[in-house]
Amino acid sequence: MDAAVAYARENAPRFLEDLKALLRIPSVSTLPEHQGDVEAAAEWIAENLRHIGMEHVEVIRGEGHPLVYADWLHAAGQPTCLCYAHYDVQPPDPLDEWITPPFEPTRRGDNLYARGAVDDKGQLVTQLKALESLLQSGDRKLPVNIRVLYEGEEEVGGEHIAAFVSQHPDRLQADFALISDTEMFAPELPTLCVGLRGMIYTELEVRGAKTDLHSGMFGGTAPNPFVALAQIVCGLKDRDGKILIPGFCDDVQKPSAEELKAWHSLPFDEEKYRRDEMGAPALVGEKGYSVIERLWARPTLDVHGVMGGFTGAGAKTVIPAKATAKISMRLVPDMHPEKAFRQYSDYVQAICPAGVTVSTRLIHSGEPSVLSTDNPWIRAATRAMKKVWNKDTVFIRSGGSIPVVGDFARHLKIPSVMMGFGLPDDGIHAPNEKFHIPNFHRGIESVVRLFEESARQG
Ligand code: BES
Ligand code: MN
Ligand code: MN
Repeated sequence: MDAAVAYARENAPRFLEDLKALLRIPSVSTLPEHQGDVEAAAEWIAENLRHIGMEHVEVIRGEGHPLVYADWLHAAGQPTCLCYAHYDVQPPDPLDEWITPPFEPTRRGDNLYARGAVDDKGQLVTQLKALESLLQSGDRKLPVNIRVLYEGEEEVGGEHIAAFVSQHPDRLQADFALISDTEMFAPELPTLCVGLRGMIYTELEVRGAKTDLHSGMFGGTAPNPFVALAQIVCGLKDRDGKILIPGFCDDVQKPSAEELKAWHSLPFDEEKYRRDEMGAPALVGEKGYSVIERLWARPTLDVHGVMGGFTGAGAKTVIPAKATAKISMRLVPDMHPEKAFRQYSDYVQAICPAGVTVSTRLIHSGEPSVLSTDNPWIRAATRAMKKVWNKDTVFIRSGGSIPVVGDFARHLKIPSVMMGFGLPDDGIHAPNEKFHIPNFHRGIESVVRLFEESARQG
């Protein structure tokens, strides 16, 4: 065993305490009242990077939440890895469903419970601790050159990191990126994610009368924006889950027969997925596609919330003047956000009922991505994981989105290695999010091994 791995094992309890400290900072990027906390999380990370011996540590402030940058570029002749993770988290609500409070990290059994435990602070800290283990043991050097770039607004679309990457490709020059923000297909199954869905996140607003109206005096003659909104929403997708927006699915790339075969040979129990991970009475979705295809290779359309009108405890007889809904679509290769948004907006206008007007607004968007597995960095990652997990790596896609992966490919022209240690039942974005603690520690060792394996031999 090498010095870095020995160091990681000796310091395992402290590593977990450090993660807990970061988890106590409620860095919820979407809520303005937490802006100071997002800032504090960035500072915490920058301080840690300085402490472990990274150089040029900088909290980059601009519009939006800060980026944290650092590098260590003394491995002459060796490749450079750009390490990415995000330190912002989703809002913790509904609060009353948490067994212990979301920002008081608590160990129960082998799990650490907190908002952001695995998405993505726990995984960010696997990188920090891998770097520390290499920089504070043995010859105190990294086997490859490292740049880190951590983001505080991934959960709200990552607009500013996209701008930074496109404007400063020189500052991010690297041979490949390590993205620590994905999950394993199943416990004990080392996994690399090689495809993500993109998305467009929109707000749809329906307006009727110039003001709220008495539903007795005007009911029967006045347009109701909520009913119209429901009619529009029902027009977007049929009961079999097929998206009805004309042309929307035209650019969907069919997975190859080989990919489908590999996906369907993964250990997947549909009934267990429905019952244990989802807990819903039935799975739904497009006819003619398997669950895995629906998750990884088909677009979606979902409603996240509907706002407006009277929502208080009692009763109020009103016909509201407007109704609004948050609606997003996940995109798959080779769909494009701008085109998808145009098709959606045009169709919404076309199916808008009489008596109301409708408008659509794009809140954020990100490209889908699919990565080739045929590069030395993916091979280094599979060797690294074999050492830690003693098993061959499986390649999966994920239904989730990490917009920066597309930006790295487009502007830096580098492949990404998406090596993540979440588990399917970690409850990301949900109450009682957790990180399986053994995965935190094996994640650290896997990152150490990846850096070692990606160094040029001889
Ligand atoms: N880490 C997730 C994405 C993810 C989830 C990847 C599961 C692989 C497996 C990320 O933090 C996330 O939640 N992304 C958002 C992005 C969006 C707001 C642009 C998502 O997918 O909803
Ligand atoms: Mn994430
Ligand atoms: Mn997330």
